[in-house]
Amino acid sequence: MSKPLASVEFVDGIAVITIDNPPVNNISIALRGDLHTVFDQIAATAGVRGALVVCAGNTFVSGADISEFSGPPQEEAYRELFFRFENIGLPIAAAMHGTVFGGGVEISLACHYRLAAPGTRFGLPEVTLGIFPGAGGTQRMPRLIGIDKSLDMIVSGKPVDAAGAVELGFVDAVITGDLRTGALAWLNEAIAAGKGVRRTSDMTVAPVDEAVLEKHRANARKLYPNRAAALAAIDVVAASARLPLAEGLVFETEQVNLRKESVESRALVHVFFAERETRKIPGLPADVKSRKVLQGGIVGSGTMGGGIAMCFANAGLPVTIVDISAEALQRGLGVVDANYESMVKRGRLTAEDKAKRMALITGSLDYADLANADVIIEAAVERMDLKKAVFAKLDAVAKPGAVLATNTSTLDIDELATAVSRPQDVIGMHFFSPANVMPLLEVIRTKSTSAECIRTAMDLAKPLRKTPVLARVCYGFIGNRMMEGYAREAQRMVLEGATPRQVDSALEKWGMAMGILAVFDMAGVDVGVNVHKSNADQYPPDPSYYQADIALYDAGRLGQKNGKGYYRYEKGDRTRYDDPVALELIRAKAAAVGVAPREHTEEEVLERCLYPLINEAFRILEEGVAVRASDVDVVWAAGYGFPRYRGGPLFYADTIGLKTVYDGMLKYRDIFGPMHWQPAALLEQLVKEGKTLAQWEGARA
Ligand SMILES: NC(=O)c1ccc[n+]([C@@H]2O[C@H](COP(=O)([O-])OP(=O)(O)OC[C@H]3O[C@@H](n4cnc5c(N)ncnc54)[C@H](O)[C@@H]3O)[C@@H](O)[C@H]2O)c1
Repeated sequence: MSKPLASVEFVDGIAVITIDNPPVNNISIALRGDLHTVFDQIAATAGVRGALVVCAGNTFVSGADISEFSGPPQEEAYRELFFRFENIGLPIAAAMHGTVFGGGVEISLACHYRLAAPGTRFGLPEVTLGIFPGAGGTQRMPRLIGIDKSLDMIVSGKPVDAAGAVELGFVDAVITGDLRTGALAWLNEAIAAGKGVRRTSDMTVAPVDEAVLEKHRANARKLYPNRAAALAAIDVVAASARLPLAEGLVFETEQVNLRKESVESRALVHVFFAERETRKIPGLPADVKSRKVLQGGIVGSGTMGGGIAMCFANAGLPVTIVDISAEALQRGLGVVDANYESMVKRGRLTAEDKAKRMALITGSLDYADLANADVIIEAAVERMDLKKAVFAKLDAVAKPGAVLATNTSTLDIDELATAVSRPQDVIGMHFFSPANVMPLLEVIRTKSTSAECIRTAMDLAKPLRKTPVLARVCYGFIGNRMMEGYAREAQRMVLEGATPRQVDSALEKWGMAMGILAVFDMAGVDVGVNVHKSNADQYPPDPSYYQADIALYDAGRLGQKNGKGYYRYEKGDRTRYDDPVALELIRAKAAAVGVAPREHTEEEVLERCLYPLINEAFRILEEGVAVRASDVDVVWAAGYGFPRYRGGPLFYADTIGLKTVYDGMLKYRDIFGPMHWQPAALLEQLVKEGKTLAQWEGARA
């Protein structure tokens, strides 16, 4: 029989319960079973004066097992178990350390006393998964700290540290030194001082103050537009003031189970697991190991090279950046220094850590200095001839087995790989700007990339703190390829007479982090225009294609960088102001290219932006560019501000029904013709067969 996940030993009359469920002491079905056994043992032992709950490893119970979410509801089982803590009949204390979230906090609330090591973090982050605490948290926490403070924690989902928890009032003491020894001493002293059983369930909650609830509702609407979990949590927490604990817990269970069935929660849990799935690569032999990466190299110290260098330094990895001139290098390293400095000013980094990170980044003008690098990422300018020349130089200096990666957004990496004698080591590592902030990393394998090289690039994402998604070579890879149709329609609608604000507001109201036209202003209107000009052969023969961009660009409107683009900006301020000058330029362009005016409802804006985006995702799947549908969802959730609570484009498509998307494509094909509105073959096939994407993937596996 395997070792139990919970055990008890009796130390001088105190039952010390140890939970040992590595890696993070999640409450699983097996652990719950073993805890019941422990309580039976304690009940059968004479002379016990008190009980202490501790955890082995790096943390106290860190939360529930999220994989149980999709199975049958577990709340009743939690309730039963937590009642055993609460009704043990002896003073029982939890001694906590590490990261105590969700179910971990809730277990402690069922104890009579709560102790913590310095540095322990407590949080109730369930709203980020579209639910709320469902194992007593909504009823027990208000009994300890009141409704207002409980809602601060539950609605924000933000953690508090040990000192903060003492101040809030749900932790009794911070224990310095060895936690178990100190907690035992604390408990013995408490018992000696006459402190006994102190059940949270015996406490009452002050009557509800409607103004407090309204304050939290307003905050919830602001933090979580289009979402219901936090609002529902407020009602359930408020119920703690009127219901006895047992009834409150039943109400909590009912309500949390409703939330679990919601699209909001299913979508958030989908993205949570999808982000953990991306590293699994079907077809890659299991014995393929990644190569060790101890030293990085970068070519080009511009916007991307500098940000990527910061990722290496943040991971504690030394990195050498090569650029073509001392001025360029100085400018690049200066930007890195300034970025770190602003983190120091904002209190996000100490001056000492900044110095350590800067010391890991070495600038050079000599490619020979890349000879020791295990991974070299090229981030020079976007031109094939130039990149080929860079790769030929890398071929000459890089050590055997070094990964030769490119950060290109648009170029054919198969062709680039012909510049070297070792195409098996060439791969795309497509970071997003700002590279030190954005979590997404598209990893692009060519026809020749070796399994070992793929594994190395995918695994390197972990220390660099990126979410890697594997793709195959195609124009735009996954993310930017899907962006084409989305942005195309947004631009086309402003040519038809919609205002940029009308388009962006519809998208933002629906949940996109930023409307796409505002994104162009932020990234630089010129950036998009240059990409389109230099890749003209990749686009369909449509005279209205991306012409709003061209109209603005030709008039010198480059976006935020010069204070005018789709919108107008004041100096030092990112607020968007409507600008009749921009509208005029776009109207003139529309007339010149013959775009007829049209009225746009909010619904049309959404359909015309989202359906082409989803349709392209089906092509990406049918061509095998992405490994799986959920990878596509991760790309858009992690890299493009797609609302996580809608689960990513393909999860969303399944929730509204593939037929809705298909019929939408046909509706606009009738209006605008087939050039941009032809449904993808896979979408059509699934609709005709009446299948979901999950069914198609299941059959393919
Ligand atoms: N900026 C973005 O948002 C973004 C996002 C993803 C990918 N990319 C891609 O990343 C690459 C770099 O883009 P960027 O925005 O950082 O450009 P950038 O112009 O800011 O920086 C390019 C740097 O490369 C240097 N350089 C040019 N030729 C070189 C050579 N032969 N050897 C060494 N250094 C050389 C330049 O001096 C400059 O410092 C491009 O391929 C771009 O398409 C950019």
